Amino acid sequence: MDRIFSNRMALVIGGSGGIGKAVAKALANEGAQIYIHGGHSKDRLERTLREVQQIQTAQGLPLEQQHHQTLLLPITGVDSVKIVLETVPKVDILVYAFGPFLRKDLSQMTAEDWNMLTTMNLALPGALVSSYLEPMLRQNWGRILLFGGTNTDTIRGFTSTTAYSAAKTGLGVLAKSVARIGGAANVTCNVLCPGMTDTEYLDEAARRYAKGKAPGGTLLHCEEIAETALAILKNPHQNGTMVPIDRGLVI
Ligand SMILES: NC(=O)c1ccc[n+]([C@@H]2O[C@H](COP(=O)([O-])OP(=O)(O)OC[C@H]3O[C@@H](n4cnc5c(N)ncnc54)[C@H](OP(=O)(O)O)[C@@H]3O)[C@@H](O)[C@H]2O)c1
Repeated sequence: MDRIFSNRMALVIGGSGGIGKAVAKALANEGAQIYIHGGHSKDRLERTLREVQQIQTAQGLPLEQQHHQTLLLPITGVDSVKIVLETVPKVDILVYAFGPFLRKDLSQMTAEDWNMLTTMNLALPGALVSSYLEPMLRQNWGRILLFGGTNTDTIRGFTSTTAYSAAKTGLGVLAKSVARIGGAANVTCNVLCPGMTDTEYLDEAARRYAKGKAPGGTLLHCEEIAETALAILKNPHQNGTMVPIDRGLVI
């Protein structure tokens, strides 16, 4: 049975764990072949690959049609884009889920902090979008999903996550720019802004902090975020939007 993303190749940056992993699995469920990118943990990446392969097997896709592959690449700067493009020269669906976070008072932020946070959260997704856009336009089909931060769907002030939030809010300009260029060619780009979400990356202190902020004291699950991600990726009419999925949380 054909599924909506059968014959589509997806690349999920930061797809080995957390929200990215849930999105990779949701895409596999819809028939996409996935390039799963992970940062440091080969074990985690291989575990995720096995889980994704099981989804396809469970849905009866013959083994020889399983083209899921992996890319383990700790991203250190914009140079990483070159390696990503050499490994995966063309994609139909780009999901950029990796997005490091730093809580530090604005007056304490160093140049290195600013460089790291804006590179990983804005320059890198921007450079990948620039590289993958042209082939998407040529084939009249493309889907790009970026991840914002909590409450970064509009310009706000942040006292301790300024660089991260500024970069994440900037993704909105990127998405709206792609929408202007790609709207007529069935190429969409949107930004999903999750609330406090439970992932394997939270240590106890971070989990306690997040629960304290989350409405009702409960964290969102990665699968809940992935459900919305999939709905956006499926929708050809939704383009250039920044979508909060945070139960109304204001931090
Ligand atoms: N979780 C939340 O509460 C929350 C809230 C708002 C927004 N967001 C946004 O949602 C997105 C997903 O967040 P997340 O919490 O699931 O986790 P994340 O830490 O942003 O992403 C985890 C993924 O990135 C990879 N990764 C980590 N460090 C890397 C590095 N230096 N180079 C390359 N890859 C690296 C991990 O692989 P390894 O495990 O192998 O390192 C894993 O695949 C992010 O953009 C984040 O900013 C999250």
